[in-house]
Amino acid sequence: MSGKVFDTEEFAKVARRSVAEGAVLLKNDGDVLPLGEGTRIALFGRSQYNYYKSGTGSGGMVNTKYVIGVKEALEEDKRFTLNQELKDTYDAWIGDHPFDKGEGWASEPWFQEEMDITPELASKVAGQSDVAVILIGRTAGEDQDNSSKSGSFLLTEKERKMIDVVTKAFEKSVVLLNVGNIIDMKWVSEFNPSAVMYIWQGGQVGGYGAVDVLSGDVNPSGRLTDTIAKDIKDYPSDASFGSKERNIQQEDIYVGYRYFETFAKDKVLYPFGFGLSYTEFETSVKSFNSTDAEASIEVTVTNTGKRAGQQVVQVYVEKPHDGLGNPARELVAFDKTKELEPGQFESFVFDLTAYDLASFDDSGVTGHKNAYVLEKGNYSFYVGSDVRSAGKAADYEVPEAVVVEQLTETLAPTIGYKRMKAVASGDGFTVDFEDVPVATVDPKDVRLSELPEEIAQTGDKGYKLSDVYHGKVSMDEFIAQLSDADLTCICRGEGMSSPKVTPGCGGAFGGVTDSLLGFGIPVACCSDGPSGIRMDSGKTAFAMPNGTCLTATWNMDLLEELYKWEGLELRKNKIDVLLGPGMNLHRHPLNGRNFEYFSEDPFLTGKSAAAQLKGMHQIGVTGTIKHFALNTQETGRRFVEHVASQRAIRQIYLKGYEIAVKEAGAHAVMTSYGVVNGYYTSSSYDLVTRILRNEWGFEGIIMTDWWAEAGTFGQGKRTDTASVVRAQNDLYMVCGDSATNSNGDNSDEALAAGEVTRAEFQRCAANICRFVMNKPVFARYIGEGNELDIKLEEDADEEELLFDKMIDCRVGDDGVGKVDVSSIVTTRNTTNMISVAFKKWGYYKLHMTVRANTKSELAQIPLTITKDKEVVGMITLAGHDKEWRTIDMDISPSFSTFYLKLYFAQDGMEIKDMTITLEQALEKWLDDMD
Ligand code: BGC
Repeated sequence: MSGKVFDTEEFAKVARRSVAEGAVLLKNDGDVLPLGEGTRIALFGRSQYNYYKSGTGSGGMVNTKYVIGVKEALEEDKRFTLNQELKDTYDAWIGDHPFDKGEGWASEPWFQEEMDITPELASKVAGQSDVAVILIGRTAGEDQDNSSKSGSFLLTEKERKMIDVVTKAFEKSVVLLNVGNIIDMKWVSEFNPSAVMYIWQGGQVGGYGAVDVLSGDVNPSGRLTDTIAKDIKDYPSDASFGSKERNIQQEDIYVGYRYFETFAKDKVLYPFGFGLSYTEFETSVKSFNSTDAEASIEVTVTNTGKRAGQQVVQVYVEKPHDGLGNPARELVAFDKTKELEPGQFESFVFDLTAYDLASFDDSGVTGHKNAYVLEKGNYSFYVGSDVRSAGKAADYEVPEAVVVEQLTETLAPTIGYKRMKAVASGDGFTVDFEDVPVATVDPKDVRLSELPEEIAQTGDKGYKLSDVYHGKVSMDEFIAQLSDADLTCICRGEGMSSPKVTPGCGGAFGGVTDSLLGFGIPVACCSDGPSGIRMDSGKTAFAMPNGTCLTATWNMDLLEELYKWEGLELRKNKIDVLLGPGMNLHRHPLNGRNFEYFSEDPFLTGKSAAAQLKGMHQIGVTGTIKHFALNTQETGRRFVEHVASQRAIRQIYLKGYEIAVKEAGAHAVMTSYGVVNGYYTSSSYDLVTRILRNEWGFEGIIMTDWWAEAGTFGQGKRTDTASVVRAQNDLYMVCGDSATNSNGDNSDEALAAGEVTRAEFQRCAANICRFVMNKPVFARYIGEGNELDIKLEEDADEEELLFDKMIDCRVGDDGVGKVDVSSIVTTRNTTNMISVAFKKWGYYKLHMTVRANTKSELAQIPLTITKDKEVVGMITLAGHDKEWRTIDMDISPSFSTFYLKLYFAQDGMEIKDMTITLEQALEKWLDDMD
């Protein structure tokens, strides 16, 4: 990292490269792409006017200085011209059909209305152009799944008509999909455009990245991270996806291509791992070695075509079929070449351990119940550029089953059901169903048998956290000083938008009370995530491409590099922890948050998360891997129970997290909202303590999702923090004020009653202190911040005072000024400036009455209030704050007209009244001073 320490331009270059490498070209008839210099383009599709930089919800709320969509990028590129007549037609139509932003949190439309394209217009424009580029845009997100209907997963009638008319009028047509996630692709064979490419939601420079591929500056090397089936009903999870109460995962380990390649090859339109290039590659296996259940494959990739380009090498295994039953293919290794010139080659060696090839036996069929077992039998390896075309590279035989890791029953389903199993028949497989093994032990009892030992309380002995840091006292001696009140307080995070940390961030934790601060525990800051920093204060940050796009690059070095920049931006903003990467599995294409997540494959998911964490770790900050675990739908996300077998949980849903912990040393985890096999994940001892900490060796902090329920299925309570601490989930996120227990949680009474032991609270407190002690906030706090902090400080941007609406307020002789609330614009991303004129110098107070007016219970509706340039207050209402709430805020002494800036980061806040009152005239204050 040379030159400037934080440089948005450099960050943008890496992001742009990521968008270009993430674009997946599915079709390119007659080599219509790349577009040659001088190409006259007719740009269709209204989403050219509203490029989607990301999906919606917390993962999409980065305020950016600018967004470059495809249209802007094409306009800037002087090698191309855009058809003016078509542009004028759209401009006029868009004037009457502005962007419909819907009704706020979780109610944004999935699509925008399309303009009617008549055959006459299309053929006229075709006569003036060389190629048609058609843009289709979609969004979805938190609290709002996609739908299998038109306008979401399916094209709308108008979109279909547009593609139909344009492909008929133009000899050459290219469809670009600016979407978060895969959509239905049946229309490709119906309308037969020359080229089709997923350009995903590419963040604030997404348009540049897409145009780099159109122009051929970058040869496409993105590959699908999901299988595109013919129909949504073809996905094996379709039957249970979206159920609000219980989601029984009968498909078990047969998620995505594991299902299709085993049972339903003919249902696939585009296989997992697929993507075209402008050149050709040849992949050859040079050698294969196996020793003691380990395997090593050497592969060479040669560019046999005419342009420079990159190729992704994918290695799949087919495990034996007569025991547990296994999918026909499982991804076990991959890599991406550097840019290869024609004729150039690159070699890779993929080493596979027994653990990489083992399966989890939860039934005992191999004779080794609850163990990772390398089953006896034949292992075949396939190497290639997608799951379907990968050719057989080698076979090897394991003569006897090998127990790779013996574990005990953990997180087993408590209700019985039939799960899918593959049975080999002829050259293929048939779907069979078997009884899932159900739980035989209650995690409650396991917890009781493993309670930690209490550290005898000593009271304050004057030790500070820095004494632990400098090795003067042990963590135990330090924790021994904390009173019961300190212990319950430290396990509560505060937010959203806590004034104790960088304005507008998601949460504050650590030294959240005066007493904790007194022990020298600073307040650490976390913020959403994942594809850029969300600061609800309106402060801008860089918005990166979405998770699916990044993983579609299959370039883990690039992801690491990108998140190094993100790390610097976090550090610059004094944020220690990003609330991301989100890494739930794409179990079903309609999950609204698939855009944030990576893939239907756990291995690829884990590698992507690990790469992002490694990038941030280089800068001393970290990310929070979320939502742990099985958070694969937004519908009913707060209460739904995911029922799955131990095998599916370990091999599919937890595998990515395991990789992130073991390979990248992840040390912050957020549990999900939902329930897994009986317990809310926030309160699951099996998940949090037994698997994550004890088995994988995780040593960091674990936090709940914001305002999560806790306890057991059907009995969830937001106030049940006792259950959270019992599980060793360290931080309940979030409350307004930890010291006064503003959420009214049950921690204090549960500790007093011994329902949670003091030792359990001490254990969480130590986890939190250890974490904070190793973050930049601590070094700054004890005055040992390094050169990087100083440089970043110097670099810090001054935010400009921009606003959308100016409102006047006069404070009369009676010292009261009423703001006309009907003129305040409360829509998402709006800044209102209130100019306050008054006659008397003095202390003023702001009084407001507000409530949430939105459909979603979990909506986050932040308002930041700034006086001139100083943040004087932040309010975040949750969707469930439906009652009027009064807010009073002190404003520092004022001597002349001042400006109050009200920044609304989301829709959904209703304001009943707002007054500015004189509390104390300054003459009086001066008198007092005398
Ligand atoms: C989301 C999390 C997010 C948190 C804070 C929750 O609603 O599920 O992903 O980090 O809010 O914004």
